Amino acid sequence: MKRREFLVAGAGCACLLFAPAGRAETAKTGPVKIGALKSFTKEGLDNKFVTHGFFVVRGKDRIYALSAFCTHRTDVQLSGKTGVEKIICPRHNAQFALDGSVTRPPAKRGLDRLAITVDDKGEVTVDTSKKIEAGKHDEAPAFVKIG
Ligand code: FES
Repeated sequence: MKRREFLVAGAGCACLLFAPAGRAETAKTGPVKIGALKSFTKEGLDNKFVTHGFFVVRGKDRIYALSAFCTHRTDVQLSGKTGVEKIICPRHNAQFALDGSVTRPPAKRGLDRLAITVDDKGEVTVDTSKKIEAGKHDEAPAFVKIG
């Protein structure tokens, strides 16, 4: 391989290594069925649905869904692990509490809450196309009550 060919090939590899996980590659928008309400037994973060672009968090009396995309650069997908107490962005290390609020910049805005509902059979659905405004996190459909 000539030097020029090597440099061109090398530049292509660098782009692949540092390309962010794009929203279109990892998550679709719209309703996602996440299972029975009674299956969410452990308090804290559940990352089972991160490939759909959200986390499910169980608090003492409710579950809610948080977008898994950083608010600093919205093309960067987060990968918080089940059971962690904070979500850390891999790009610039912003941190978010499990209620979605920012605890360390550079992100300035908390993670988006997504609409979550339960049907009469106890099956829960998260709608990734419906974001809940910041002042409405204590109203349906920002959470589903447990028990
Ligand atoms: S992209 Fe998440 S902190 Fe910058």
